[in-house]
Amino acid sequence: MTANSVTLRLAEARDAQAIALMSRDLVEAGLGWKYDAARVQRAIRERDTVTLVACAADAVIGFVIMEFGDERAHLVLLAVHPSQRRRGIGRRLLQWLLESAQTAGIGSVHLELRERNEAARAFYRAMEFSESVRVPGYYRGREAALRMLRVLRVPGPPPYLWQPPALGQK
Ligand SMILES: CC(C)(COP(=O)(O)OP(=O)(O)OC[C@H]1O[C@@H](n2cnc3c(N)ncnc32)[C@H](O)[C@@H]1OP(=O)(O)O)[C@@H](O)C(=O)NCCC(=O)NCCS
Repeated sequence: MTANSVTLRLAEARDAQAIALMSRDLVEAGLGWKYDAARVQRAIRERDTVTLVACAADAVIGFVIMEFGDERAHLVLLAVHPSQRRRGIGRRLLQWLLESAQTAGIGSVHLELRERNEAARAFYRAMEFSESVRVPGYYRGREAALRMLRVLRVPGPPPYLWQPPALGQK
């Protein structure tokens, strides 16, 4: 399988179980299972949430879920199957959403991750996210989280670029 044979598409209801199992095993392991199939199904249906899957030969090998607000977006979950890592799939999934967020006028993208998750930390740094704050006990009172963010534009209204046409010039 080549990296080019991996396609990205919006998730559909039939993907909910595969996404939920990946979340349980690859993201939420040891923390309890919040993103079961019913919850993922709601995320797929939710208007302000985008759920994207990476597929190879029709199997889901990666996914990302992002919630969009007016100014901020929150990256909820992201995972790539262990056998498919370091092939640029995580980057493609996140890049798709960062470009969507930029087009939607979102100012910044935020996320939390387990402090000990060195691979994800390195991944988000490679995706130009910065660490903002450490939150002790964020995960079930047991594990610290790191908050990270990527600024897409300076806060406030977009710059006003219109200028009147110059009169009298040929
Ligand atoms: C984090 C994760 C999604 C990255 O997915 P991926 O498809 O392997 O990432 P990519 O191949 O697109 O990596 C892009 C860049 O990120 C960095 N990176 C990714 N994984 C890394 C690792 N294990 N160690 C160091 N750097 C890493 C590298 O700079 C990489 O570029 P390179 O391969 O050219 O050096 C994947 O490791 C994963 O699913 N982890 C378990 C779930 C998880 O922790 N999710 C995040 C918290 S919600």
